[in-house]
Amino acid sequence: MSTNLITLNRWLLSDTHKNIEYKLELANLFSGIALACKVTNNAIKRAGFEQNFGLAGITNVHSEDVKKLDIVANDAWKNSLKATREVHCMVSEEEDSIIPVSENQNGRFVISFDPLDGSSNLDCNVSVGSIFGIWDKVSKDHQALNEDVLRKGRDMIACGYALYGSATMLVISLGYGVYGFTLDNTIGEFILTHVEMKIKSKGNIYSINEGNSVYWDKATSEYVNTIKSKENGNTPYSSRYIGSMVSDVHRTLLYGGIFMYPADSKSPNGKLRYLYEVAPLSFLMEQAGGKSSNGKSACLDIMPTSIHQRVPVFMGSHHDVTTLEKTHEKHS
Ligand code: AHG
Ligand code: MN
Ligand code: MN
Ligand code: MN
Repeated sequence: MSTNLITLNRWLLSDTHKNIEYKLELANLFSGIALACKVTNNAIKRAGFEQNFGLAGITNVHSEDVKKLDIVANDAWKNSLKATREVHCMVSEEEDSIIPVSENQNGRFVISFDPLDGSSNLDCNVSVGSIFGIWDKVSKDHQALNEDVLRKGRDMIACGYALYGSATMLVISLGYGVYGFTLDNTIGEFILTHVEMKIKSKGNIYSINEGNSVYWDKATSEYVNTIKSKENGNTPYSSRYIGSMVSDVHRTLLYGGIFMYPADSKSPNGKLRYLYEVAPLSFLMEQAGGKSSNGKSACLDIMPTSIHQRVPVFMGSHHDVTTLEKTHEKHS
């Protein structure tokens, strides 16, 4: 039994981060993030006992049927983050507009979050997650402004995701590599288990909802057909698609390959939202040596014009995403 565990808090306060002038406030913010993840994880595990499966009977700003657990997770994230007194304002998938924080609780960080990602998978016990991105505020006082939240992913100071899977993990980056923490339920702590996570330069797994293939443009169709073929000595790629972005991206990070949610004739800007799905996961992918593109250029350089803006995304192994971009270039 180790008596010298590297907990999330201990890692954040370590000398590795001595040059981060806001490391104490950030460690405090992460204590709220860790609590939100543990509460969300617990609510998912107990949903069967507490009749928390199924729909809440409302739709959100994306016209999605909101699940009961979407609301539980959203409330847990808002309450846990506000209570740290480190938050200036928040953006949540489940809230129409920016969530301000009162002056007496206001802090310096702007945080975007998807409290429960992959909620269509909840009732059948398939792994789901949470996703978050963190920026330093730009406004001078406690008033939340658009310029605080409409930010490029590249300007994040930290981000990450929780994966509520066979094990519960928190995978994060402060801009100095990707680190994975696994929840030890016996002591209720996230313990460092994955140091400097890196993605393979080329993979052999592709991840996309092929049920949308009738809507794909020529570039996406040609790329997918090519990696499924034996052309030019290609070994056909394996297909894996879970339908929870966090799970599909976590597998891509660990096993290599490419995750895709393209724009198509049904979803002209793709389905995934920039601030709390694409930007944080793109940041992690680049930090792990991978790539994340909208088909033409890096997702991290996109400047969003609305808090729920959707963008096309192709992320994963550098070689695979580069090949995808070349196919798009050929058809542009
Ligand atoms: P959320 O549950 O937060 O609304 O996100 C669902 C997203 C994402 O997790 C996943 O990659 C995608 O929806 C799957 O969409 P399709 O079912 O259209 O493939
Ligand atoms: Mn949703
Ligand atoms: Mn999501
Ligand atoms: Mn969600």
